[in-house]
Amino acid sequence: MTKKTLLAVALAIASCPVLAAETRDDLQPSGRFSVYGHGAAATPPMGWNPWNAFRTEVTQDKILSVAETIKKNGLQAAGYRYINIDDGWWLHRRADGGIQIRTSMFPMAKTASGPPSFRRWTEHLHAMGFKAGIYTDVGRNACSQAHDPKSPNLPVGTTAEREIGLSGFEYSDLRTVFEEWGFDYVKVDACGLADFAAGSASVTSGRYGESRPLIVRGDAVATDADKVETMYARVGRLLSQVNPDGDYVFSICPWGEAAVRDWGGRHGNLWRTSEDIVPTWKSMLHNFDSTSRRELYAGPGRWNDPDMLAIGLGEFDADHLVEARTHFSLWSIVSAPLLIGFDLNHAAPALVELLSNKEVIAVNQDAAGNQGRLVADDGQVQVLVKPLSVRGERAVVLVNRGDTPAEGVVDARQMRLKDGALQVRDLWAQRDLPATQGALRFPLPPRASVMLKVKGEPASGDATALGEITGRIHVAVDGLPIYSAKPAEVSGTPRVDATPYGKPLQVAGQAYAGGIGAHANSRLEVLTSKAFRRFSAVAGLDDSGDAANGNVVFKVYGDGKPLYESAPLRRGAKAVRIDVPVSGVQVLELVAVAGDTGKDALPPLVAWADAQLH
Ligand code: GAL
Repeated sequence: MTKKTLLAVALAIASCPVLAAETRDDLQPSGRFSVYGHGAAATPPMGWNPWNAFRTEVTQDKILSVAETIKKNGLQAAGYRYINIDDGWWLHRRADGGIQIRTSMFPMAKTASGPPSFRRWTEHLHAMGFKAGIYTDVGRNACSQAHDPKSPNLPVGTTAEREIGLSGFEYSDLRTVFEEWGFDYVKVDACGLADFAAGSASVTSGRYGESRPLIVRGDAVATDADKVETMYARVGRLLSQVNPDGDYVFSICPWGEAAVRDWGGRHGNLWRTSEDIVPTWKSMLHNFDSTSRRELYAGPGRWNDPDMLAIGLGEFDADHLVEARTHFSLWSIVSAPLLIGFDLNHAAPALVELLSNKEVIAVNQDAAGNQGRLVADDGQVQVLVKPLSVRGERAVVLVNRGDTPAEGVVDARQMRLKDGALQVRDLWAQRDLPATQGALRFPLPPRASVMLKVKGEPASGDATALGEITGRIHVAVDGLPIYSAKPAEVSGTPRVDATPYGKPLQVAGQAYAGGIGAHANSRLEVLTSKAFRRFSAVAGLDDSGDAANGNVVFKVYGDGKPLYESAPLRRGAKAVRIDVPVSGVQVLELVAVAGDTGKDALPPLVAWADAQLH
C-alpha cells in the first residue's frame, strides 16, 4: 500500500464510525433463514411428561398405564403424541462409556445378553401409536443429583460412574439414544453446567466432581452464554447426524438463562424461557410472561417453552376449571408446547375434556406458526391475538389475571381487521356468536378468559404486514449485549407494533400503529419464499430512545444482496420511506446498524414502521 492509500484508509476509518460498525460480522446479511431447520416440530410438540406427577419415583408401569389411558380417553387422537421419560432413568455410567439403565424402574429394558436397552420400550410405544422421548443433561450431571438429594433413584457408584450427563459423551450417548434405542425426542437439561460449583452441597457431599459453573442462575454477567450456546449447538448438530430421517425433537432446557432466547431457535426446536412451573396461579403467569413478549422468536420448528402444563395439579385441578381453562388458552395462543404433566389415570372427566378441546388445540397447532402477541395490557386484563393461516382469521384470548371481576375488550384494529362485520366463534363454548360490528366486549370473572376465533377482512388489504407473519421472522441478532440479558427480563427484545419496552412506535413525533420495534445493531431475517413483489416500510429512530444515543443506518437485503441503505439517521430525523422490489427473493433481511453508540450504552431504539410485503 502506498503512503497515500494508507492515509486515505486511516482517514476513512477515523471519520466514519458507521463503516467501522459495519465490520460486525453478525450484522452482515446471512442470505439465509438461519434457524435450526432440523427435527420434527413444524407445530408445537404435544404429549405427556411424568416429571410433575412422579419426579424420579417413576416406573415403566406408571408411564405405560398413563399412555394407555391417553390412548383410550381420546387425548392421543386429540394430538398428544410424545410419551416422555424425564430425570431418574439411569443407574450409572459403565466402564465402556455406555449408560446403564435402571432396570428396577424399567424392567422392559433388560436384555438376554448384553447391557440393558430401551429398544423394546420405544417399540412398544411406537406400536401404540406414540412417539418416545427421553431426558439428559448437557453437563456431566443431572438436575436430580443437585436438587433431589433424597431421591431413591439417583445414579450410583464412583464419582465418574455417577456422571451420566452428555458432556464428553455427546456423540456416543446420542447415538445410543436415537440409533440403538429408537427415541424420537430428547430434553437436554443444564444443571450439570450450573449446580456443581466448588463449595456447593452437591460437591461437598463428596459424591460429585466440581466444575466451574457456566451458568450462574440469575447472573447474566457471570454466566458464559457463548460456551453454553456452543455446547447446545453441538448437541443440535449431532442430533441431525444420528437422525438422518429428521424425525426427532430437540428440547433445550436452560430455564431462560444464558441468553437462550437469542440462540435457542438456531440450535433446537424449543427452549425453556423460565424456571420450572409449579401449580400456582402466580407461577403460571410468571412463566407465561417469560414467553408472551417474545412473539418474534417462535415459528415452525422453533418454539418458546414456558414449561409443561400444570393442569390437573394444585390451582389447576378439577376444582379450578376456570384457572385450568385460562392456563390452556394462554399456552395455546402463544404456540407453547403442550406437555401434560399429571397422573391422567386419576383425571376428572372435565379435565380430559378441557385438554382435548379440538378448536383450542387447532389454534396452538395452526400451520403458520405465529405466536399470539399482546395487543392490550392494563395490568389486569390482557388481550392476545394470533394470526391464523386462513386469510383474515385470528385467534384471540382475553384474560383476567386478577382476583376481581373485569371486562375484556378487543376491536378490529387490534386484530388487524377492517371495521365491518366480524364472524366470531367462542372456542370454549364451541358456538358461533352473533355477527358483530365494532369492539367485542366480555365480562371476565376473576382469573377467567375468553378464547375466540374471529374472521374478517384483513386491514392491510392485499399487503401482508410483517406483524401478521411472525412465524416467518427470525431475530438473528436482537441488539442486546449478552450481559444485559437478565433471565427474568421479558422486555428489551424486538416486538411487533411496539418498542422493545412495549410503548407505541413513534418516529420524529409521528405515531405508527404497526411495524417492528427493536434496538439498533439488530438483524431480522424474513422468510419471504419468493411470494412477494415489494417490501415497504418507514424507518427511523424511535422517539422513546435516548436523544444523545448515536446514529443508525437502515439496510435491507434480499438473499444477501443490498436492496436499500439509508444515510445515517439521528433521533428526531424524519423517517425514511423504503420501497424495494423483492420478486424472487427467498430471504429478506432488515438490518439497523448503530454508529457512534457509547461503549456500554444500549444501541438506540429503531422502528421499521408499517413494514409490509406486497
Ligand atoms: C429441571 C427441569 C424440569 C425437570 C427436572 C428434573 O431442571 O427444568 O423440567 O426436568 O429438572 O430433575
